[in-house]
Order: sequence, then C-alpha cells, then structure tokens
Amino acid sequence: MSPNPDRTGVPGADAILRRQRARESAARTYARSFPIVPVRASGMTIEGADGRRYLDCLSGAGSLALGHNHPVVDEAVRRTLDRGVPLHVLDLATPEKDDFTDALFATLPGRFRDRARVHFCGPAGTDAVEAALKLMETATGRRGLLAFTGAYHGMTAGALAVTGNVAVKAPLPATGAEVTRLPYPYAYRCPFGVGGDRSAEIAATYTERLLDDPAGGVVPSAAMIMEIVQGEGGAVPAPDGWVREMRRITAEREIPLIVDEVQTGVGRTGAFWAVEHSGVEPDAIVMSKAIGGGLPLAVIVYRDEYDGWLPGAHTGTFRGNTLAMAAGAATLRYVAREGLSERAAAIGARMMSRLDGLRAALPAIGDVRGRGLMIGVELVDPEGPTDSCGARPAAPRTAAAVRAACLRRGLIVELGGRYDATLRLLPPLTITDEEVEAVLDRLADAVAEVSVAPRLAGRPA
Ligand SMILES: Cc1ncc(COP(=O)(O)O)c(C=O)c1O
Repeated sequence: MSPNPDRTGVPGADAILRRQRARESAARTYARSFPIVPVRASGMTIEGADGRRYLDCLSGAGSLALGHNHPVVDEAVRRTLDRGVPLHVLDLATPEKDDFTDALFATLPGRFRDRARVHFCGPAGTDAVEAALKLMETATGRRGLLAFTGAYHGMTAGALAVTGNVAVKAPLPATGAEVTRLPYPYAYRCPFGVGGDRSAEIAATYTERLLDDPAGGVVPSAAMIMEIVQGEGGAVPAPDGWVREMRRITAEREIPLIVDEVQTGVGRTGAFWAVEHSGVEPDAIVMSKAIGGGLPLAVIVYRDEYDGWLPGAHTGTFRGNTLAMAAGAATLRYVAREGLSERAAAIGARMMSRLDGLRAALPAIGDVRGRGLMIGVELVDPEGPTDSCGARPAAPRTAAAVRAACLRRGLIVELGGRYDATLRLLPPLTITDEEVEAVLDRLADAVAEVSVAPRLAGRPA
C-alpha cells in the first residue's frame, strides 16, 4: 500500500487508480467510466476514497437487489461464518444449500416449481447460460439455437454466440454454434420500420414463418433463449403478448424456451421473475446476479423432463459457495416478505412518468422505457433526421457526457443499448423516496447541462 495518504486520508487512492491503469487489462470497463475507489457502502450510497459520496444506480450491474451491505445480508454472512461451516463444498449437500434451494423454489411460479430441477453452475451468469444451452442440446439432440437482436447473455463462447453485440464478437473466430438471429420487438427502433404494436406482431409472424420455411436456413433448434427485458441491450421490455407468441411458436415445434433472468430476476421488473408478467411457463430459467445477495452464485432451474445429463456434464470447481447461498437465501426471502417486487413496480412507474415529463422538455431524450426498476433513457441527436417511426439518431457522445456529468453530481449511471446511447437505471429495490428524487434531479440536471447549455452557447451538443 502506498505510504502517501491522498486528500481523503485513505492511503494512496490516486496511486491505486494509477496502478490499476498500469496493471489491469485493456478490457476493464466500469473502472474506465467511474474512476473512483470505493471504500465503504451502505444501501444506495458508495463512499469513494476521495471522501465523496455517490448514489449507485448501477447496483453491481443489477446484482444488489437490497443495495450495499443490507443488514439482512450482512447478518446471514456473519451467522454463517460464526458457525464455522465449510465455505467451499464443490457440489456436496449442505444445510445452507438445502435452505437456499427451499428459498429459491418458493419463489418459482406454481406449475414450474412442481416439476423443477436446479443445477448449480460456476458463479457467473455466463456459465449458467452455457449450462442451459448444453442441457437443451443434450435433451433434444439438436444444435441450432434461436436468439434475438440486442440480446446479451455473457462472454463465454456459447453465451457470446447468442449475444447480439457485434463489436465483441467480430475480433474472434466463429464459435461453431449455429445461431439464428430473430428480431426483438424494440418499439423505438423498430426492426421493420413500423413501430407500435405492429412491430411485435410482425416480429412474431416473421419468426413463425422463418422456422417453417424449409429454405429459411434454420437448422432444427435445441432452444430459443430470450430476455424478457433486455438489460445490456438498453432496458428494452418485450410486450407480454409477444412473449406469449414466442411460447406458442416454440411449444408447437417442441423447441425448449430458455428465459434468461440473470438481470431481470428477484423482483427487479415488478414481478419476482419477469416471465410471470406474461403468464408464460418456460422450460428453463437462467439465474444469477441478485440470487446470491451480491455474492457470486448462478443456477439454472428447468423442467425435470429435460434432466438427461450424464454425471459431470456441466461441472466446475466453484459451484458450492456457502456464503453466497446464505446471503442469497436471506435476500430471496426478504424480497418476497417485504413485497419488494410490487414496490419496484410502483417506484419504477413513478420514475418513468417523471422521466417522460423530462423527455417532453429535453429533446436530447429520445425514449424512456423499461419495466419496474430497470429503466432506459435513450439519448439522441435532437437535430438529426427522424426515421420512419420518429426516432432520431443515437447520440453516444452525449450519453457519455451525461454519464460523466452525473458522476460529477454524485450519481453512478452506466450506459448500454445500441451505440451505448442509453442511460440504464438499476437502483436497488430498497431505494427511498428521497433517493428517487435525488437521482432524478441529478439526472435531469446532467442532461440539461450537456444537451441544452452548449446549444444556447451556439455549440453543438
Ligand atoms: C441477461 C444476462 N445474461 C447473462 C449475463 C452474464 O452474466 P455474468 O456477467 O455474471 O457472466 C448478464 C450480465 O449482465 C445478463 O444481463
């Protein structure tokens, strides 16, 4: 540790950042957008080594349903440590794992729960996505995969193959996976140039006809994988009717439906699992992030008829993290007991309504969308031409400038979506009314500073 205290009294904060830049990989991401050294955190607030406090609207990329260091999570971790239980157990049975499984199954929609199996994966969403794809490839004996434009499923080979983002795939050799890319109903930037409800209808018709076209180029499908609200894709919610159509289309063709709830799960969208909004019963759900209460944990839950794996078919060393299971069980129960899904729905609706008002006042905001506390604010060039649906060109430089202006105001907001032009709000489900106001005030101020002030001064935004 550097012997030189920075202005905060924390030893070497500036030096820590300098050493990070010098020693960590060029692939580091959040550290570039947020050059802060967190030293303490509680609820929605992070304190940096520079002594500044930040409202955290990123929440560990959606992992912290209860915010930082929630007493319920801290207590579960402490209790587990105090009992002296093994912290690493491979995939052996333990009381903590048994209890986590009870807590998890209690959250599942009824009919799905009755026939559910769980597989503990390596502790990242991407590994659980790999597991789900392999499970269905094994069960069906097929190799084709159906995935969507704008999708994000992770960074390992199979998950990356079903991810939409071209920039991260382009430098790599082909993965070998045979993926058919289907249109996701993104109302603001409709893939068919029509927008509105018609967009989702056409997307469903196109999918159905493509799958039935013997010359459509689609090999028999092992699975369709979808997000109910695309997270990294820019907080794009799918209409419930379209989700039901995807279920009908896959069921009629005996194609398993995998719902990736890594980001949408545990109350975030206003239902415990986002798929519940549509009433659809999937064949498998991929879960990670919030299920570990902020500690690393990932599982897939699926209908038992698909459980045709051989022993060790998807193994891994770190599949038995006792602390994560204890923290996760406490979090799942707290979210259910305190009705935090309903709270997310109500607060999210309030935030979106105020953001909609802001959109009317600030033309740099092209679209406000989302579900529950998964909200996207897409920034556009207000002077650019509109497309056939009225959308203006994405404004990634404005978005990056707004992110920086938010940080200067003590607000952490990350970007996502096409061209990284969407501000993504992922506050903890425990956000208070005062924090809601503070987040929206700072955000409004930041957008106004970046998009209005330069124009008044005669400079382009
Ligand atoms: C929907 C979705 N699936 C999978 C992943 C990958 O999870 P991880 O980053 O833990 O590998 C993410 C991460 O953001 C995600 O949002």
